[in-house]
Amino acid sequence: MQLSTVLIEKFKTSKNILALTGAGISAESGVPTFRGKEGLWKEYRAEELATPHAFKRDPKLVWEWYLWRIELISTKSPNPAHFALAELEMKRSDFHLITQNVDGLHKRSGSEKIIEIHGNIFRNRCTNCNRTFDSDPSKLKNSTECPNCKNLVRPDVLWFGESYDTDLLNRAVSLAERSEIVFVIGSSGAVGIPVELARIAKENGAFVIEINIDPSGYSRYSDLFLQGKAGEILPELIPYFI
Ligand code: OAD
Repeated sequence: MQLSTVLIEKFKTSKNILALTGAGISAESGVPTFRGKEGLWKEYRAEELATPHAFKRDPKLVWEWYLWRIELISTKSPNPAHFALAELEMKRSDFHLITQNVDGLHKRSGSEKIIEIHGNIFRNRCTNCNRTFDSDPSKLKNSTECPNCKNLVRPDVLWFGESYDTDLLNRAVSLAERSEIVFVIGSSGAVGIPVELARIAKENGAFVIEINIDPSGYSRYSDLFLQGKAGEILPELIPYFI
């Protein structure tokens, strides 16, 4: 990777690094992105199933889709992009990660200081008592019943049309405000709030580095656009920050 000496110096001396990741970072692990051509399940798009309305109308169908995704993700492993960010966290105490991904692959690669802003597919929440608990895919095949109050459980993920958790969002905004370097990795920018985080960071003076195979809704805020696969670019880029 060719970087100017000015940039290299900037990367070494900057404080508070934030990474904002989307489905593209897990693409090389074999997890289909939302808007890529493999994002379809049967004839449905994610946007048709990941909604409170779809769950109310046909919880069985929505669960069938989630169980398919849970099983698929369970067979996948973190890739070099996830590991590069986990290494950055280990070496820099001022690094934080915000992910839109519900696949849990960042945690499995060793990242701990992470905000899963859209939830986690391996956690469930009761639609009645709101209790959350880790899911057990094998049991869920037979039962989607809350162990506490016996009502219907749902995946503990954010659906289209739902509000963000206020506490998570406030923490994300404050990280965006104070970061000097922001990586935006593998996200299309189709969802408004994550793009807002990039905008807030940029307005507060952050240097925004985007890594994506294609330009995205974030690109207007990018100071450096690195076109290519996250799993190839990040392992080369991260040593400049350590
Ligand atoms: P998308 O599926 O919308 O976008 C994936 C992005 O990853 C695209 O911009 C691709 O160009 C890029 N990409 C694909 N392979 C890549 C690779 N190997 N390296 C780098 N980039 C790559 O996924 P998100 O932007 O994450 O929300 O979608 C955001 C949200 O929309 C999701 O969290 C989910 C979805 O609906 C909710 O469920 C609320």
